[in-house]
Amino acid sequence: MKADPTPLPRILVLASGSGTNLQALIEASRERDFPGQIVAVGCNQPGAFALERAAQANIESFVVNHKDFGSREEFDASLMAEILRHNPDLIVLAGFMRILTTDFVRAFRGRMLNIHPSLLPKYTGLNTHRRALEAGDRVHGVSIHFVTEELDGGPVIAQAEVSVSQDETPESLAEKVQAEEHILYPIVVRWFCEGRIQLGSEGVLFDGQPLKQPMRLSAS
Ligand code: GRF
Repeated sequence: MKADPTPLPRILVLASGSGTNLQALIEASRERDFPGQIVAVGCNQPGAFALERAAQANIESFVVNHKDFGSREEFDASLMAEILRHNPDLIVLAGFMRILTTDFVRAFRGRMLNIHPSLLPKYTGLNTHRRALEAGDRVHGVSIHFVTEELDGGPVIAQAEVSVSQDETPESLAEKVQAEEHILYPIVVRWFCEGRIQLGSEGVLFDGQPLKQPMRLSAS
């Protein structure tokens, strides 16, 4: 009798909005050799299109609406309880627009990734495309990092660059950056599931070695 194959790492995606990154991950996870399985999608916005995408892909989903809670701590406790029901190995923040409490972040240290639309450490927080344009940057991009207590400040694993053209607008730049996001996130999630990236005490370890600078997809 054949032994059961080792179960694939369990991925839980948290989103708040349209969920195009979720969609890219869903499509990647359908590849035959993808080393992980998306077991659930969690959302803080009841009407988010990400929920629809999960339903279409037959992935379980849940909503924890932040408006139903009096404090961030209560919201996070409820979110945590939902997440734990799915026993994930990895939490992927994909446009999840809530700041998580320190306790929450610590509970998932080394097991939670975020995507941020800038070349970190530049432009943490919001309106990154507008800020890059205002600064006259010729190169902009996206970063994927481990989540730590510092907002958008955890060790960066990988980045993809886009070149900024003369007539660029925040909208056109967002579009270019998103196209790179949809390529980069599945690659990094794959690395995590293969055990290639870890959060060490000093930063990211890639294949067991300290990562001196983020992995880069070069400008398109
Ligand atoms: C992405 O641009 C991501 O960088 C940011 O939020 C956006 C989410 O977009 N954190 P979507 O919901 O995946 O389409």
